[in-house]
Amino acid sequence: MPNSQANLDRVPILTIPVLTIDGPSGSGKGTIAAQLAEALGWHLLDSGALYRIIGVTAQHRDLALDPKMEPTIAAMAEALQIEFVGELAVVDGVDITTEIRNEDGGAAASKVAAMPAVRDSVMALQRGFRREPGLVADGRDMGTVVFTDAPLKVFLDASAEERAQRRYKQLKNKGLSVSLPGLLEQIQERDARDRGRTVAPLKPAEDALVIDSTSMTIEAVFDQVMVWVKERGLTNPS
Ligand code: C5P
Repeated sequence: MPNSQANLDRVPILTIPVLTIDGPSGSGKGTIAAQLAEALGWHLLDSGALYRIIGVTAQHRDLALDPKMEPTIAAMAEALQIEFVGELAVVDGVDITTEIRNEDGGAAASKVAAMPAVRDSVMALQRGFRREPGLVADGRDMGTVVFTDAPLKVFLDASAEERAQRRYKQLKNKGLSVSLPGLLEQIQERDARDRGRTVAPLKPAEDALVIDSTSMTIEAVFDQVMVWVKERGLTNPS
């Protein structure tokens, strides 16, 4: 019945608030986005995980991450059953969390992410995360392409050297042996690919508020974003 109470009660999707956090790898946006989603009680979209899943799955299936393979990889991405179970990324019923989280997973992601057909194939999936009471979406083009009407857009930056340092400490703490110059090189390579691509390049939206977190703590960044959330009246009334 078209005019049922359920239909009348349904909130139009564009009134559901979205907070976008875009920025380069290692800027801390994943951590901040998770903390904000928790504090606000909102849903969380880690869009980088989608590109990581597609890149790693394509490699599992022996598909070269080459522009010639774009239609095949996009068709593969369209057909994947992707589920996030807590922190876990489950694809077609298989947990691939560990493989998507390493540096190779990031590099594979940035190769498939430069393919326009692949980006189109995950658009509807990403927009589907916009559910009540709100969404925190982290990535590269959340504010510029996917949620252009978001009432608050943040661009979180930090120098490449600082980002490499942070990653180095993270990996060291996990007991992994890594080289700082090697990490810096990987970060710079990925930045160049993400900023230089023709489709959805990494850049702040015109209406984004920019934070340079190079010499800031995670807590200070979180507090700054929460000030903006409150200023814009996005906190739940309760
Ligand atoms: O954020 P994360 O490091 O997990 O992203 C992995 C890669 O996925 C990025 O380097 C970028 O190439 C791609 N990406 C993207 N658009 C997004 C999120 C991630 O192109 N919205």
